[in-house]
Amino acid sequence: MSTVTTRDVSDLIHSDLEEMDARIAETVDIGIPQVNELVRGVITSGGKRLRPSILLLIGHAFQPDHRALIDAAAGIELLHTASLVHDDDIDHSALRRGRPTLSTQVSSVTAILIGDYLFAQSAILAAATNDIRVVAVFAATLADLCKGQIREMLESHDLDQSFDQYEQRIYGKTGSLFAGSAEMGAILGGADPGTIAELRAYGRDLGIAFQIIDDVIDLREQTRSIGKPAGHDLREGTVTLPIMRYLAGLPANSPDRALLVDITSGDVTDDRVIDAVVGRIRASGALEAAATTARKYVETAKGHLFVIPDSRTRHALSQIADLVLDRSA
Ligand code: IPE
Ligand code: IPE
Ligand code: MG
Ligand code: MG
Repeated sequence: MSTVTTRDVSDLIHSDLEEMDARIAETVDIGIPQVNELVRGVITSGGKRLRPSILLLIGHAFQPDHRALIDAAAGIELLHTASLVHDDDIDHSALRRGRPTLSTQVSSVTAILIGDYLFAQSAILAAATNDIRVVAVFAATLADLCKGQIREMLESHDLDQSFDQYEQRIYGKTGSLFAGSAEMGAILGGADPGTIAELRAYGRDLGIAFQIIDDVIDLREQTRSIGKPAGHDLREGTVTLPIMRYLAGLPANSPDRALLVDITSGDVTDDRVIDAVVGRIRASGALEAAATTARKYVETAKGHLFVIPDSRTRHALSQIADLVLDRSA
């Protein structure tokens, strides 16, 4: 299951994650056998459980109510899972975690409705914490997530965008969930408002780094290791940081600039042409340049951890931050 787990992280939250998985499984039962089968396939397909790990670790640094912490962790993981079901439909992705996506097994409309059902169940889990502040963070997170995905659609195919636009977009679609996870953990732990804000900032910066690395992986890894074709973002017209870094290094009249316009707008779909461009992006140093930006966010994220009183959980959260940079899937 968990590729983010180090020994320290696992010692601290292994049994909580098992409890959380059981809570998710009991919650998502829709009572329609053929749909249950599909939903079970999604929730047991081996996600890294990174967001609930952050929530649980932060909670444990303080004095949480155990039951509420598990409910919140289950809620955030299910919110993430629902967002992936919708994301794969939006992105026309055939594979997720190496398995066929829901959208390849049922109609797009059905996949979206199953995603909606999972969103609703994740809200029920958030409400089960009985903490109105957690419910408020949950709703704000979902709103930010939608805003991020809407921005991504509106800003796709645009090669002349700023880093600020990119950052705002990836905060929305990814950073918001990490920020919300950290914030919920701190709220349920009973942390004071200043501490909650610092830990939210840890999650935000870590989530932004996570998405930058995801965007690097999309271009760097082979299909086999990521369970989707390399350069998928490019094919979808999503302009990511490594692509922006590559563009910045090209002369204004470079034929590759025009080719990238054609690829991101869908006018060029020939795999050999796209693979060759991916090769040139890899050779240009653009992936390393983007990874350097991610490293800066991870360092900033770790800087917020000084508010954690307990050194063991602080160390585990710092290790999680480092692992985000090293991951390859
Ligand atoms: C995938 O997140 C979606 C992104 C924000 C890039 P994860 O890589 O954390 O997904 P799983 O749950 O571990 O598969
Ligand atoms: C993930 O962005 C955003 C959400 C899941 C909301 P991506 O589209 O880059 O994620 P992957 O690459 O499909 O996992
Ligand atoms: Mg996607
Ligand atoms: Mg991606």
